[in-house]
Parts: sequence; C-alpha cells; structure tokens
Amino acid sequence: MKRRNFSPFGYFMFFISVAAVTTCAVLVYTLVADMNAGAIAAIMLAVVLALASLCTLLDYLRRRFIDGKITDEIASATALMAHGDYTVRLTPRHAYNAYDEYDIIMENLNSLAAELAKTEMMNSDFISNVSHEIKMPLSVISNYAAALKKGGLDNETKEKYISTLIGASKRLSDLVVNVLKLNKLEHSNVAADLKEFDLAEELRACILDFEEVIDNKNLQLDCDIDEICLYSDKSLLETVWHNLISNAVKFTPEGGTITVTLKNENGLAVVSVSDTGCGIASGTGEHIFDKFFQGDTSHAQEGNGLGLAMVKRVIDILGGEISVSSKVGEGSTFTVKLKGLK
Ligand SMILES: Nc1ncnc2c1ncn2[C@@H]1O[C@H](COP(=O)(O)OP(=O)(O)O)[C@@H](O)[C@H]1O
Ligand SMILES: [Mg+2]
Repeated sequence: MKRRNFSPFGYFMFFISVAAVTTCAVLVYTLVADMNAGAIAAIMLAVVLALASLCTLLDYLRRRFIDGKITDEIASATALMAHGDYTVRLTPRHAYNAYDEYDIIMENLNSLAAELAKTEMMNSDFISNVSHEIKMPLSVISNYAAALKKGGLDNETKEKYISTLIGASKRLSDLVVNVLKLNKLEHSNVAADLKEFDLAEELRACILDFEEVIDNKNLQLDCDIDEICLYSDKSLLETVWHNLISNAVKFTPEGGTITVTLKNENGLAVVSVSDTGCGIASGTGEHIFDKFFQGDTSHAQEGNGLGLAMVKRVIDILGGEISVSSKVGEGSTFTVKLKGLK
C-alpha cells in the first residue's frame, strides 16, 4: 500500500500554534505577576476558555470546509456501493506522489469498486452460461421423452432416441460435476496433495481410458513417454491429462494422429499432447482457458468449455506452466511444464 508522504507544513502549523499559546501564556503571566491570586485565577480561566473556544471554532471550520467535504464524498460513495452501484469512482485531491491518507482511502475504494464490478459481471456471466448449458440438454430430454411417450416408433428409432436421452443426461451430469470441480478449485484454496508418483504410468493409464474412442475414430496414437517420477499432486494432474487428451481426440477428425510425449527437459517434467485436428484460430486462442469458452458456439461437439479452465487452475496451483501452439487446419500442441522431478 502506498504510504502517506511526510508533509512538514502540517507539523509546522501545529508547532506554531503551540508556540503561540505558550507565548500568550508568558505574556499573560508578565501582565498578571503583580496581581493577587484571585484575579490571576479569573484571568487564567478566561484565557483558557477563550483559547479553547477559538481552537474549537477553528477545528469546526477545518472539519466543515476541508475534511468534512472529503468524508461526505467518501460516505456517499460507500453508500452507493452498499446499494450495489459499483460504477462510483472518487478523485484523489493530490498528485500520486503527494497522496495523503484520504487520497489513499479513495484509491482503495476505487479498486474495491472495480473488483466488485468485475465479480458481479463474472457471476452474471456464469449464471447465464450455466443456464444456457442446462437449457439445451433439458429441451432435448423433454422433446425426445415426449416423442417416446407418444409411441408409434419403430425399434431402431426408439434406440436412437434413447441414446440421445442418455447423451443429454450425461451432458447435464458432466456439467454439474465440472462446475462443482471448478468451483472447488477456484474458491476453496485447494492445497496440492504432494506425493511421489509415477507420472509415466499415470499418463499411460489416462491414454488407455480413451482407447475405445481412439479406435472408433481410427486415430493413430504415437507415444514417447520417458520413465519419470514426480513429486506433485497425482489426482489434480489426472484432470489435466484427461482434459488435454479428450480435447485432442475430440477435435481431431477420423484418421488423424495424436501424439503424447513425456520428457525431462532442464529439470522439468514436460508433457505435450499434440493432434492433427482442426487447430485453434489466433483470436480464439486467447480465450480457450476462459470458463465456458467453446470455439464452436454451435455446440456440435460434446463439452461445456470448462475443461481448459480447470486445467489452467490446476497448473497454477502446482506452480507449473501451460502453453499452446496451433495452426488452423493443421493441429494443436499443448505443452505442460512441471517442477518436482524425482
Ligand atoms: N486440441 C484442440 N484442438 C482444437 N481446439 C481446441 C483443442 N483443445 C481446446 N480447443 C478449443 O478450446 C475450447 C475450450 O476447450 P475446453 O475448455 O476443453 O472446452 P470443451 O472441450 O468443453 O469445448 C474448445 O471448445 C475448443 O474450441
Ligand atoms: Mg474439453
């Protein structure tokens, strides 16, 4: 936090007042030296009362016309903020390098209002995104269930409708699981559960989970995985590999190639997941780690745009790095660098 600058003027005025009062006292004393005790007491009382009244008046004027204006301004700004108006901004009265306490409070209130506005916008974006993601599978469920109830469908169509129903409910449950997971990662200060584990084995196990879909899509899988053990959080990293591989599989058309590598590079464990899929346009690339961002807004592919947001959060928690290189139509490579090599 910025500290208040030392202002000699204020101190000087204060000591001038003390000196003036002392001088008055000495003058009064020289005047009253020959008087009797009763007269001295009466004069002293009158002087004390007069000085106290003068100081009170000066202090009142200072509060009313200088500090009072500022505190009124701060009070009305905080009242507006308390009622949900986060657009208020206060203007400090001094240049940045001459800030006093009021200027610092004003700046802090401006930052607070900006932060609250950001949080409010994120909350409303979040609600509209979740609602949108819920609405789609729900309307699929209600339409297909109604069609099944109506009857008169041949077995093949029934099968197709039931599969669609299962797909839509899976989409809903994935959404709920991912929202809860991401919420936990973002808000509950997840502490990494650090243990030594076999990273190569974890990667192989994750790849195996996609064996069936890789076969179904006739994808070629190339792996170059060195035997590496890591001191890190095994279960958090599983989320990372799962999302990166599932994206590679999802965004690569039939007959494409997926490559997963694990290497020790300059004391870091480096995992890369590459594909020969659709690639990511440069404008899109800036947003892929945002919550609910999906390059294809038509929702032709399964997903809810939370995978990479989770990946990024996990990598941040573990103090690692993630980068993407991609060319539209040629493919993408996600590279994760992690510390904790064993
Ligand atoms: N391997 C990839 N190839 C092409 N685009 C990708 C790849 N991985 C991620 N993306 C883009 O990033 C977006 C966000 O990814 P993600 O958060 O995992 O969401 P989802 O998979 O649910 O769409 C995707 O919708 C897609 O546009
Ligand atoms: Mg994904």
